[in-house]
Amino acid sequence: MKIELAPSILSMDFGQLGDGVRELASAGADWIHLDVMDGVFVPPITFGAQMARDLKRRAPGARFEAHLMTEAPDHQFDAFVAAGCERITFQAEATSHAHRLAQSLRDKGVMAGVAINPGTPAEAVEPLLDVVNLVLVMTVNPGWGGQKFIETALDKVRRLRSLAPQLEIQVDGGIDPTTLPLALQAGANVFVAGSYLLTKPTLTDGLEDLRRACVCAG
Ligand code: DX5
Ligand code: ZN
Repeated sequence: MKIELAPSILSMDFGQLGDGVRELASAGADWIHLDVMDGVFVPPITFGAQMARDLKRRAPGARFEAHLMTEAPDHQFDAFVAAGCERITFQAEATSHAHRLAQSLRDKGVMAGVAINPGTPAEAVEPLLDVVNLVLVMTVNPGWGGQKFIETALDKVRRLRSLAPQLEIQVDGGIDPTTLPLALQAGANVFVAGSYLLTKPTLTDGLEDLRRACVCAG
């Protein structure tokens, strides 16, 4: 599986997001990870599809994905597709019809992802493995950046990788050069990092650190 970095903008200065995504794109980010929060599924509110549209205009060559931490995620699908997101990931816990929602994303011509919280077992998404492109195993409880990596979540990564060798498995939360190799060895291949990038002089430096961590762990 190709190893991909999907930096999150959640911890960045929201007044400077245009410059931030341009830098991430220039630094070779495989995806720009947009954390969409509605204040109901998780307490914080971040932004909607208009932000995705406007950021895509500032980095048109970059691939954008939306991580919908929202209730009724399908209410957002058309707007984020129109905004230019090529992958949309919804939370399994936010719907009773995950299989139908995943299928509807595929029918709209975008990649479908399903995310599971730390308290949700991998078994919850096993019936979806034939319809999703990606499973996002949350390695923090959703809603905030800068939290501590939940290592027990890696058991789910190992289980999913054993069931689906070709599945895109993404981890999100507490990813840095120390935790990334653990997740890589467990079988993840797509890595979301937010706050770590802001501990370095530039976002580019942070991405380069994570890229090196992928190589060292390889
Ligand atoms: C949390 C978001 C994550 C978060 C990761 O709800 O889904 O993408 O931004 O942030 P860090 O890398 O700071 O843990
Ligand atoms: Zn996320």
